Amino acid sequence: PSAAEPWRPAAHLTPSKNWMNDPNGLVNENGTYHAFYQYNPKGNDWGNMSWGHSTSTDLVHWTEESVAMEATDTEEIFSGSIVVDADNTSGLGSKDEPAMVALYTSAYKDNAPLPKGSQAQSVAYSLDHGRTWKKHRDNPVLNLEPASPNFRDPKVTWYEPGQYWVMTTVVADDHVVKLYKSTDLLHWDFLSDFSGVGAQGGLWEMPELLEVPVEGSTERRWVMLVSINPGGIAGGSGMQYFTGDFDGVTFRSEGAAPPDAPLQDHQWVDYGADFYAATTISAAPGGKPVLFGWMGNWDYAQKMPTTPWRGAMAIPRELTLSTDDGGKPALRSSIASVPAAVLSSEPASERRLEVDDGSQPLGEAFSSRSQLLDVELKPDGAAEAGIVLRGSAAGSAPGGSTEGQDGLRISYQPHSGNLRIDRSAAGTANFSAKFSPYHGAKVPLVDGKLKLRILLDSSSVEVFAPDQGVVITDLFLPKWADTDASVFSDGGNAGFTLTGRNLPA
Ligand code: FRU
Repeated sequence: PSAAEPWRPAAHLTPSKNWMNDPNGLVNENGTYHAFYQYNPKGNDWGNMSWGHSTSTDLVHWTEESVAMEATDTEEIFSGSIVVDADNTSGLGSKDEPAMVALYTSAYKDNAPLPKGSQAQSVAYSLDHGRTWKKHRDNPVLNLEPASPNFRDPKVTWYEPGQYWVMTTVVADDHVVKLYKSTDLLHWDFLSDFSGVGAQGGLWEMPELLEVPVEGSTERRWVMLVSINPGGIAGGSGMQYFTGDFDGVTFRSEGAAPPDAPLQDHQWVDYGADFYAATTISAAPGGKPVLFGWMGNWDYAQKMPTTPWRGAMAIPRELTLSTDDGGKPALRSSIASVPAAVLSSEPASERRLEVDDGSQPLGEAFSSRSQLLDVELKPDGAAEAGIVLRGSAAGSAPGGSTEGQDGLRISYQPHSGNLRIDRSAAGTANFSAKFSPYHGAKVPLVDGKLKLRILLDSSSVEVFAPDQGVVITDLFLPKWADTDASVFSDGGNAGFTLTGRNLPA
């Protein structure tokens, strides 16, 4: 980040220039992480959809590679996934030199094998570690009869018990996940549909079926991830999940709320406005599910005033399942161990303070534009307490009120249990009426305390509540000069213990 590009993050993947949305085909090959993503090589708006490519060894620092697959006169390359075909099931590579195989959505234009405007699944493969890609001669390998304009987003994983590949796709406007199987990645047979429960919203996109470890046991359970747009918990784009069972053919959800249930009764991967289309890394170390998402919301993503780039990825997150009091498994997110180790490598500044009905500036050590902040909040008698980041200097005089102070406000109300991000006065917001101001989640205190891990990075914040496994991800566009940090307490006393680290260069 610099004054010239004030909103460019330090520790999150962004393209050097141009538009980016969904992650596609994240794969770990011999210790190198490859991220492919929806990318417009020709401009800073959605269009000419192609697959961009970046690599990393630590999931924090990224190197941009040349565009992997470009839109042609015949098709745009919509979202999909990649596997390393180590056993050469496809015959496209060899066991010694395995192919990377991509399943992607062909969004057809003119002179295509299917009518213009239809979508179907195609294969491409790389024999040089993702640098160059060849399209399979029999594309598309999977289409619907009649051809659908909304059949997309193939995600492929290996189903060990059955020794076959399983693909999830959606018919987006029908709110249906369709499952297929294959032994060679090229021929696909229909397995089953998943639909009829959960939030329906406008479209279902980017589905994924995966196994997630249950905390404190050796058990794993099946989870279905479905991005929905609009109709998410924070307005516009959001991600819901279902837990259940998969027998190799059918995924059956357990305890999912019916479609007409209030939004808060559905299960959400993230409670912020800017986490969408996330997919897990294929072959992450230790087989752990590591989720990589786009920090964006279709409600206003195309109006975000960043330039010459638009679009950033969230920090990779590890997923686990907890069993809450009712016994219903709940998905929990934490920063994945590989990036977490890098993010917490800088020396820490510590502060402990009590605030009684007012605010206290945190000073220089906590005024970084990009930092990892661990907070322990003890709200004691406070009606509301929290922290203001990227604030304007004017508002944070000792003992003063933070009410009306510019800055990103992260607050907690003990009586409602609501953790909230307020970006209403956190910088530029007038580019879209849909850039919603407040997002929150219910998080009960543990022993009268709330722990938060806050990843602040130039124009985004990811607020993790590690004890509850909840995360809220929001973009905001602060003034370059606004770097003040303060804590506040309203209506009583609150205690804070803070550990802050600048993000590594
Ligand atoms: C999700 C999505 C996908 C589609 C891609 C197009 O954000 O709409 O369904 O494949 O973006 O860029």
